[in-house]
Amino acid sequence: MNYYYITGTSRGIGKAFAEHLLENPSNIVIGISRNKTIEHANYRHFHLDLTDVTLLADFKFELHANAQKIYLINNAGALGFIKPMGQKDADTIIKNYTLNLIAPSVLINAFIECYDSTDAEKVIVNISSGAGKNPIDGWSVYCASKAGLDMVSRVVDMEQQVRAEHPLDSIHKGFKIFSIAPGVVDTEMQEGIRAAKKEDFSRLDDFIAYKVNQQLSDPKTVSEKYIKLLNNLSSIKHVLSSIKDYD
Ligand SMILES: NC(=O)c1ccc[n+]([C@@H]2O[C@H](COP(=O)([O-])OP(=O)(O)OC[C@H]3O[C@@H](n4cnc5c(N)ncnc54)[C@H](OP(=O)(O)O)[C@@H]3O)[C@@H](O)[C@H]2O)c1
Repeated sequence: MNYYYITGTSRGIGKAFAEHLLENPSNIVIGISRNKTIEHANYRHFHLDLTDVTLLADFKFELHANAQKIYLINNAGALGFIKPMGQKDADTIIKNYTLNLIAPSVLINAFIECYDSTDAEKVIVNISSGAGKNPIDGWSVYCASKAGLDMVSRVVDMEQQVRAEHPLDSIHKGFKIFSIAPGVVDTEMQEGIRAAKKEDFSRLDDFIAYKVNQQLSDPKTVSEKYIKLLNNLSSIKHVLSSIKDYD
């Protein structure tokens, strides 16, 4: 069996990802979010607020004796309020970094710790963003947290390579990690962007135009592209990429 732990499966890209994976009876999806919206025999749900650091620190991955593949897909994320620095509130800043950067880091650490000696294909996929590479006004915390997620991915990849050169044991197969941006996708996150105030966000009109001009991708199409890539890992040449690189 193949096991996919996915954060943020209640809607948007994460839900489409989970539903597509569940079409294959060899896949079991373990979703993590505050709301459960998927009913399927091979779907399990952990109700977890990823900004609750106490519950987050207690999260445990399960050992799966029959696993051929075990994946962690860090998908849950939010923009937080779109406001320039100086006008944000401290609680939102803290929660936004926790959801977008601290939670994926804690889960990556727990995932590697749990499956280190497991003989399966072990892959971590972080859903990153172009906003982690380019500054966007009003989005400071989101941009910084996605840049951080990219760097965590690069460091973990380096650690796996260092370890492969100096193996602790002969059966260790290591982990692969990728940080892949989805492009602009038609989800609630985009609705939130379009609801921002012009005075807080100079690019508001661009994002309204993406919707009007039908330039937003459908979450199903995007998740299918991710799954196609993950079924052909050798086609992913770099730790950091965008789904658009594979069109
Ligand atoms: N949409 C885009 O254009 C776009 C572009 C670039 C990158 N991305 C990235 O793609 C990923 C998915 O975005 P999306 O557009 O699908 O967003 P979305 O439709 O808003 O869905 C976000 C998901 O994250 C979960 N989530 C939010 N806060 C949470 C919390 N405190 N604890 C646990 N889960 C939480 C939500 O579940 P609950 O509310 O049930 O908890 C939901 O399932 C994000 O990392 C985002 O940064 C999106």
